[in-house]
Amino acid sequence: MYLYPKWIRAWHILNSILFIILIVTGLSMQYTGKKDYVLVVGFEEAVRWHNISAIILTINYIFFVAGNLFTRNGRYYRVKREHFFSDLFKQLKYYSWGMFHGEKHPFPVTMERKFNPLQKLSYILAMYVALPLIIISGLGLLFPEIVVKGLMGVSGMLLTDLLHITMGFFLSVFMIIHVYTCTLGKRPESLFRGMITGYHATEDHYDLED
Ligand code: HEM
Repeated sequence: MYLYPKWIRAWHILNSILFIILIVTGLSMQYTGKKDYVLVVGFEEAVRWHNISAIILTINYIFFVAGNLFTRNGRYYRVKREHFFSDLFKQLKYYSWGMFHGEKHPFPVTMERKFNPLQKLSYILAMYVALPLIIISGLGLLFPEIVVKGLMGVSGMLLTDLLHITMGFFLSVFMIIHVYTCTLGKRPESLFRGMITGYHATEDHYDLED
């Protein structure tokens, strides 16, 4: 099944590389205060690379949103209210119990359903909640003059910074869990292969191969 068009693959590879650079440089900046401590790069270099990567990531993000607005890929991110929680629970049960007992996927991939309910929710939270928040707070840190002076007696810059590092933390955790769940296809490498070739291998395909 051809599920990952070229533009999604191009967006995804650039996004993943930039994320890794942003995590490493972000951590470098956070810990440079500790006496002569340098994590991969020094403070000045970390700031420069963090800013450059963040600007490219923002442009790439606009490309992702536009792609999902104007192509059919956007339909995979639409949530239906009916069975929302029960479907999430079914998927969670599969991840925590079913898959270790040889059960079949409760939501097999089809041309109409690329993501299982848990995957869909985590992609929506990462792409449409955490990413906009980290981009907006990052712009606030880059251009402090646009940040409000204070909110209920707390410095606006401090709140912006807190929001930025909190989202950074959540997105880093998301990425680790995301890469792990991407190993849970029919074979550990099958989903990664799909993101490179564009084709998701169906269960039948593997049965024939085996
Ligand atoms: C080294 C890091 C990463 C690897 C190896 C990786 C791997 C993959 C793979 C194999 C898929 C296809 C399986 C699927 O449909 O879920 C995928 C899809 C996806 N990944 Fe990643 N990923 C990485 C980083 C990220 C990051 C940092 C984000 C966002 C913050 C992200 C967001 C997504 C999204 C939204 C999709 C679905 C795209 C679509 O088909 O519409 N990934 N990833």
